[in-house]
Amino acid sequence: MSQNLLDDDGVSNPSNNTSLTEVVERAIAHNPNRRLMLKSGIGAAMLPFLGGLAACGGGDDSVATIAPPMERMLGFAPVGISTGDTTPVPTGYIATPFLPWGEPINDQAPVWRTDVTNSSEAQEQQIGDNHDGIAFFGFNAAGNAFGNRSDEGLLVQNHEYINPEYFYAPDTDPNNWMLPFTFEKAKQGLAGHGVSVSHVRRLADGSWIHVKQSPYNRRIHGNTPISIQGPAAGLPLMRTAADPSGRTVLGTLNNCGNGDTPWGTYLTCEENFNGYFGWTGSARAAPADPLTPQQENRYGIRQDGFGYLWHTADPRFDVNANPNEPNRFGWIVEIDPFSPGSQPVKRTAMGRVKHENAEVVIARNGRAVVYTGDDERNEYIYKFVSDGTFDAANPTSAANRRLLESGTLYVARFDAGTTTGDNMGTGVWLPLVWGQGGLTTANGFTSQGDVLLRTRQAADRLGATMMDRPEWVAANPTKPGEVYVTLTNNNRRGTHNATRPAGEPLANAADGSTRAGSARPAVDEANPRANNVWGHILRWNEAGADASALTFTWDIFVLAGQPSIAVPRAPSANVNAGNLFTSPDGLWFDSFGRLWILTDGSFSNTGEFANMGNNQVLVGDPQTREIRRFMVGPSGSEFTGMTMTPDRRTMFVNVQHPGELSNHPRALAMNPRMTGNDVARNPTAFSQWPTPGVRPRSATVVVRRIDGGVIGG
Ligand code: FEO
Ligand code: CA
Ligand code: CA
Repeated sequence: MSQNLLDDDGVSNPSNNTSLTEVVERAIAHNPNRRLMLKSGIGAAMLPFLGGLAACGGGDDSVATIAPPMERMLGFAPVGISTGDTTPVPTGYIATPFLPWGEPINDQAPVWRTDVTNSSEAQEQQIGDNHDGIAFFGFNAAGNAFGNRSDEGLLVQNHEYINPEYFYAPDTDPNNWMLPFTFEKAKQGLAGHGVSVSHVRRLADGSWIHVKQSPYNRRIHGNTPISIQGPAAGLPLMRTAADPSGRTVLGTLNNCGNGDTPWGTYLTCEENFNGYFGWTGSARAAPADPLTPQQENRYGIRQDGFGYLWHTADPRFDVNANPNEPNRFGWIVEIDPFSPGSQPVKRTAMGRVKHENAEVVIARNGRAVVYTGDDERNEYIYKFVSDGTFDAANPTSAANRRLLESGTLYVARFDAGTTTGDNMGTGVWLPLVWGQGGLTTANGFTSQGDVLLRTRQAADRLGATMMDRPEWVAANPTKPGEVYVTLTNNNRRGTHNATRPAGEPLANAADGSTRAGSARPAVDEANPRANNVWGHILRWNEAGADASALTFTWDIFVLAGQPSIAVPRAPSANVNAGNLFTSPDGLWFDSFGRLWILTDGSFSNTGEFANMGNNQVLVGDPQTREIRRFMVGPSGSEFTGMTMTPDRRTMFVNVQHPGELSNHPRALAMNPRMTGNDVARNPTAFSQWPTPGVRPRSATVVVRRIDGGVIGG
């Protein structure tokens, strides 16, 4: 989701004549860790989808799986910036929009109407809005379960939110196109959220189709029954009048980033859930639970939410009527895409925050580790370590499928290390375990489930490090234990401290009383820039290359920015005139070890953001730190999630909110500026991507090489 800062080389012609030895030596030269991996037989790190398996030593692949001949880390010609309404890609590549918002999910679903007069019932059968996290699950050889095929599979993706100005057709109020707001409109909005599962197939010419008649096609949305599992399930604070058990909730919301597991399931992450809730009447009624006010404050529940208006028409989202309903959101949800009738499950053991994504790796000791960032200014980075261990011999076993049911959640503290000011240091994972570290009854925590329900307050108590908006976390499949995180930006860091308003906190208070996003901490070693408008990418290496380790070392991979703006706000040396970008957000490793960076920053192309153009996809070389621009998005959009087929010859990358008004160069030039109400009545003014003449729609983009080669190489 876009967040306004003010608030909340030449293309390859690969020769196939290279000897195997040359291939191996080149790969080793590029990454010396590979020699160790080859020696220890853990080259399975290169196996798509089973990236984490490497660390458990279960691979039996040969050196021939390392890489196609001549594959290079940055084997493409960089693209320039763009301010257009297209998706430029490198020479030799082709980019095709696919599965836009409104596309019928199957051959029974109604066709999307360009004037958005579809009903909620229709939207429940169509691709949702604002595409975000995405994963490709290849079929097995038989075509009936999880496997490793690259020509056919299930494309699963998130639909984070809706843009009301494009989503709702203008109603009768000339001053507000959304009014009068009705229960049906709330239901329509709910239907635009969630997850879609689309059966997709590659044709002989390399293009892709949606297999509409397939029974695997499925929508999961804001009214789909979902079970709640784990320590917080059934707690009194999870119960509602509609669900006295506290174990079944309708829907998953604000589905931002994602994860995929080596046992073939999809993880969808609930991020800014707070924005859907509000209250009607003149005041917030005093809830029965004494800690609810603090809970609402710490997670940012406000009277009018983010302006979706659901709470005005559906009592489920009015906290005066249903104070516990927000507690049932903010979780990571596990979905089995190969079982269309299965009920998704909210896994409470992984904590309740505004999850960006869920990066899954298998640690050396076999435990499943899930990394997640809490995306809000001055929030924290977490990891979950399962109690059970992964059975690599039986990847889709029932036992593997229960690994996320129980384990330990940790939060990160980043320390300066032996030298201050060198952009590197050490760190500790602090366990969120009831009874430890002050997470006690005396301090208001009544059970392990309660600790997880109030994850933010528990992390406050433990003294975790406030970060510059943790977005996606990605683990390097070619270097066990190395993990990267995007810290997208933070305008509430440093310098302003001298003039901060009375009472504005420097830090999230240990007692959990700080309002969400209200602290204004000083710079620190891991977040070294005041008013960090461009963001940075930090990485850490777990002790012993073990993802379940309790300590790590870290450094900063890149400080994004504008070289023309001087120190102390200058970017790092790997930023130059040819790769300018702002606000790294999406982050994804392909199985060759390329770090794909997707941005969500200002597309104003002026001032601090001059010569950056529209949001971008870039590729980073983890070893050399070189960063090269691969792709640019359409007008007013951001790039969100990315995935590839196991053979890495097809990329699916999501474009979200084309035509967004904020920061749009044409909007900035208007006097007066167009409002949402204006855009609703003139929906083609800022973007017509991907269909000329039609209002803009979020969509997946299929990227492939004309010669059929691997993407990026
Ligand atoms: Fe949904 Fe933090 O992006
Ligand atoms: Ca240091
Ligand atoms: Ca994001």
